[in-house]
Amino acid sequence: MTHPRVDAVAQEARDAIASARSSAELEQVRVTYLGRQGALTQLLRGLGALPAAERPAVGAAANEAKRELEALLESRLAAALEGERRVRRESERPDLTLPGRRPPRGALHPLTRVHDEIVAIFAGLGFSVAEGPEIETDYHNFEALNIPRDHPARDMQDTLYLSESTLLRTHTSPVQIRAMLARKPPVRIIVPGRVFRRDVADTSHSPMFHQVEGLAVDRAITMGDLKGTLELFAREMFGPGSRIRFRPSFFPFTEPSAEVDVLCFVCRGGGCRLCKQSGWLEILGSGMVHPRVLTNVGYDPEEVTGWAFGMGIERIAMLKYGIDDLRLFFDNDLRFLRQFA
Ligand code: FA5
Ligand code: MG
Repeated sequence: MTHPRVDAVAQEARDAIASARSSAELEQVRVTYLGRQGALTQLLRGLGALPAAERPAVGAAANEAKRELEALLESRLAAALEGERRVRRESERPDLTLPGRRPPRGALHPLTRVHDEIVAIFAGLGFSVAEGPEIETDYHNFEALNIPRDHPARDMQDTLYLSESTLLRTHTSPVQIRAMLARKPPVRIIVPGRVFRRDVADTSHSPMFHQVEGLAVDRAITMGDLKGTLELFAREMFGPGSRIRFRPSFFPFTEPSAEVDVLCFVCRGGGCRLCKQSGWLEILGSGMVHPRVLTNVGYDPEEVTGWAFGMGIERIAMLKYGIDDLRLFFDNDLRFLRQFA
């Protein structure tokens, strides 16, 4: 059953359904013709305004068109939804041919690498690793090392005190005392660790830095053994062509004492800002263990002798990698750290 008043609207709706390209567009068509304000709905609602003779025919035609359009919409909508689901499945399917994403790979900090290398070199010489606390007693850090209170040598290391009798250790040397108190000679240890001083940070100083202490005590240990050991260490660490020098020095806990310098890699001895115009970079202090220190830990200086050293890990890393500013180790700048990956 048809009626011209209805046919025009129905045909327009069929065309709109035919040209709709998605479920969203079909829904739009449904609203336009069959929704509450839709064209066909309005037509049915307006029946009352028609002459009584026309009403049945228009009403029947409109109802039939409504059923037809609803069925048509439903089947087109089902097809559109199925198509859209297929497209989505396709686009979300993992592409197994893509290369994998590599997780970012970390690397050891240059100070850790140098630390490990120092430990390996001395392990090869028969030294074992010992450790001690970063918070130390005044006794272990100074007194037992022959640095009494009010002795001018205390000024050599500007100290961060925590109380009258405790402090942040200024060097790894207190572990010499702890180790010797804990065992009988012979002793061959190295002691890596963090140390703290009220030093102003500059190109070669930091208020927190790392040392490795070395200690060898036995019968008939000589200064020659110390020199030979440190020369061997320098060759292993810096290569056979490296140049080091022993310079007489003073420490209250060693006698005689020497500091070891390595030729400055920036100026090659000419003098520059990094080496403070000296041409050399100091890497360690060392010497023969003072008889009074041996006595303090209950060893007999008539029976045993020993040598000790304390080296700065940062300084050694600077020389090894050609780094002209010590502060770079603590800035955590990835552009710097990535160079060691
Ligand atoms: C000492 O600390 C002595 N305990 C070393 C020692 C041990 C001598 C055993 C004799 C026997 P010194 O203050 O010179 O000595 O420091 C040793 C090394 O630590 C220096 O040669 C240097 O390499 C490093 N160092 C010292 N101060 C700093 C600092 N502020 N920043 C970075 N490295 C430092
Ligand atoms: Mg020094």
